[in-house]
Amino acid sequence: MDQIAWHFHFLVDFPVPIYHPVQPEPFCQITSTHRYLPIISLPKMSINANLSIELTSRAIEATPDNYYNYYHQVLLFQHEPIRRELERGLRGLEAIDLSVHPWKAKYVHVWLVEFFIPMILDHHDSEEKHMGPFYTQRGVKVPNHLSGSHSKLVNALERIGGLSETFSNSPCQENLTILKTAYFDMHELMKQHLEEEERFWPDAVKQIGEEEYSVFFKEMHTDMKNQPSGHMFLMSALDSMGYEFDGFSHVAGDTRWCGDKLLEDLIINKVPYFVRTWIFPPINRKYQHYKSIMCHVSNGLEDSIPLKYEEGSYCSVC
Ligand SMILES: [Fe+2]
Ligand SMILES: [Fe+2]
Repeated sequence: MDQIAWHFHFLVDFPVPIYHPVQPEPFCQITSTHRYLPIISLPKMSINANLSIELTSRAIEATPDNYYNYYHQVLLFQHEPIRRELERGLRGLEAIDLSVHPWKAKYVHVWLVEFFIPMILDHHDSEEKHMGPFYTQRGVKVPNHLSGSHSKLVNALERIGGLSETFSNSPCQENLTILKTAYFDMHELMKQHLEEEERFWPDAVKQIGEEEYSVFFKEMHTDMKNQPSGHMFLMSALDSMGYEFDGFSHVAGDTRWCGDKLLEDLIINKVPYFVRTWIFPPINRKYQHYKSIMCHVSNGLEDSIPLKYEEGSYCSVC
């Protein structure tokens, strides 16, 4: 199947420069006002784009030869998007001035309950269900503070869902302050949790080895595929890695943390061409809809984006 996909890909993909004006985001700094996309999903890739995707992790460092190993990348692949979404939510909440735009309350609620909270809950759930038991069975001693440590976060997220509903129905300053405080506390807790995982898991992944890890990754991947929130998570991860949907390829640049190899292994080589060209784009449009809702809370002046997802409703430059 892969081989057929490669041949087909080779026949129909050709390097056409595409022009995209892109607005910079604090956690996805664009170093150029435009980018030209090489078609890098061919077996031999050429990379010449000018995008810098800054790593948000403070716990994982590049190796002395300026590279991130697979045991870093597999963790960053999941945590980088979470941190980016986390920060996006924080920036949005901080930008709300109810005297000018009370409509933002509904936008925040939709982003939290339809996108952010289910995505994070499912990620933690999957870690509890698969990660802990898988490593324990292979003799890795998972520290107490990491096994079962999600309950605090789950409670915090569920509470935020309830508070955002109250805020959405009654957008007053008091409800905003309560929601912001709860979100800020959860933000701190989550950042600390991700950091603790990033200090522990790379060595554990290294200990079981790459081959064994791929067994585990397959389990996680199947889980992701079966959950609607998993689709959004995958799109968020690809978005944070600079994957380019128009070219069904990805924008290279400072991608050492996500790794060209990881993207190749995970997406280009594993996901058949028709899935990337026919199934990914509509899922991505839905993800971009939610992303643009929160970007709109940060920067929007009026409620011009529909809350309900409709084809073509998202703003692609957020
Ligand atoms: Fe976790
Ligand atoms: Fe995690």
